[in-house]
Amino acid sequence: MFDVNEATERLALLRDWFSGFTRSFSFTNEDDQRNISLKIKHTHEVCKNIRQIATGETTDGSKVLTAETIGLLHDIGRFPQYARFRTFDDRISVNHGELGADIISTEGLLRDFPGDEQEVITYAVRFHNAFSIPPTADSRKGFFLRLVRDADKLDIWRVFIEYYSGPRAERASAAAIGLPELDGYSDEVLYHLQRRQVVPLSKVKSLNDYKLLQLSWIYDLHFKSSYRLLLERAYIERITAHLPRTDEIRKLSESLKEFALSKGSRTPSSEQ
Ligand SMILES: [Fe+2]
Repeated sequence: MFDVNEATERLALLRDWFSGFTRSFSFTNEDDQRNISLKIKHTHEVCKNIRQIATGETTDGSKVLTAETIGLLHDIGRFPQYARFRTFDDRISVNHGELGADIISTEGLLRDFPGDEQEVITYAVRFHNAFSIPPTADSRKGFFLRLVRDADKLDIWRVFIEYYSGPRAERASAAAIGLPELDGYSDEVLYHLQRRQVVPLSKVKSLNDYKLLQLSWIYDLHFKSSYRLLLERAYIERITAHLPRTDEIRKLSESLKEFALSKGSRTPSSEQ
């Protein structure tokens, strides 16, 4: 039986654990510490996002608490990943979703949670960063996985807009995974967007391509509330403002906005 008071208490304890855990990854080097702080703030923002999206999708408070627990734990793999490899690039280090799921089990973080909650939370952490949702996801797992993926994307857009807009010296160096700042962008990457496909990371050759990849995530949002947040925060305009001002990009920006508007005004997607 899911008790909302108990779940609130479990979440409060996990928040304390998260503070202690992240404090244990402190660096004297300013740049390293900036990269760690970036992920701490990201986690808190993902918690806010996931609460907002979940509240827009369900009136069941227990689901909102489960969602927030997933938000809190989704990136715990980032801290040991950075400490060990000094990068957030999974391709050259470890899969931080899998590492997060492993930490949950080795630290026994969910030992006081009901068995099915443990399963759903660990699953969502493990696959939050997968290229796509595994076809094996049952409807409950799928619901929470979609929630964290949407909440995560919404905050990654914020992180990158701040990164592109901020002074170079104050940028968290690991945010852009070391991509070169070349003029222009790859036709192949734009082609994916024109076909409403998410751009695979393997096609990305420059920072501009990476901005396009991030815009392509718009095709991989799942909830009406997520599209509304995307539009409210004007992320499409704010990212395209940092891309070359070509007709292609202008057209793309318009078509992404139309897509988001149409999704944001439709009836909610599959609630579990
Ligand atoms: Fe992540």
